[in-house]
Amino acid sequence: MFSSSAAYAPMPYLSIYSSTRVYINHLSNILRKEYADTGIIIQTVCPLNVATNISKYKETFFFTPSPKKYAKAAIKTIGIVSETMGCLEHQIQATLLFGIPQFLLIFLQKKILKAQSEREKKELLNKSD
Ligand SMILES: NC(=O)c1ccc[n+]([C@@H]2O[C@H](COP(=O)([O-])OP(=O)(O)OC[C@H]3O[C@@H](n4cnc5c(N)ncnc54)[C@H](OP(=O)(O)O)[C@@H]3O)[C@@H](O)[C@H]2O)c1
Repeated sequence: MFSSSAAYAPMPYLSIYSSTRVYINHLSNILRKEYADTGIIIQTVCPLNVATNISKYKETFFFTPSPKKYAKAAIKTIGIVSETMGCLEHQIQATLLFGIPQFLLIFLQKKILKAQSEREKKELLNKSD
């Protein structure tokens, strides 16, 4: 099941998105128990940024792989871990990001995500003109 690293921290200005990712993780955990004896593998994949439409990253770089590179890495984890960031690059990034003090993480998230949210609102308003 596809979730997101947004499930691991309450994300300002992404309230619905972040909350739905927590829901997916919870649902996956329940389904994994229900299907434990069937041989069906239920894995939760929680990426950071991958260069797709949703992330709006057009270029790839170390922490933002292409969908193909990400999928290749994530597939290798099936049957090994039940919940994963999907690739080593995201595992490293998550360790760095979620390892910083909570107040600093919230401060940075608010600053970055508020600016992003305002940019997107402006783009939508411009489109509707
Ligand atoms: N890319 C990232 O950085 C990233 C990070 C964390 C988690 N994720 C998760 O990964 C999953 C896949 O995202 P992606 O990166 O592959 O994004 P994507 O390339 O933008 O693909 C999103 C897909 O969802 C479909 N979709 C969007 N709204 C829909 C709706 N209301 N009903 C039905 N289908 C809808 C789109 O269909 P159309 O093509 O027809 O619009 C598209 O096929 C998402 O659940 C996302 O939360 C992605």
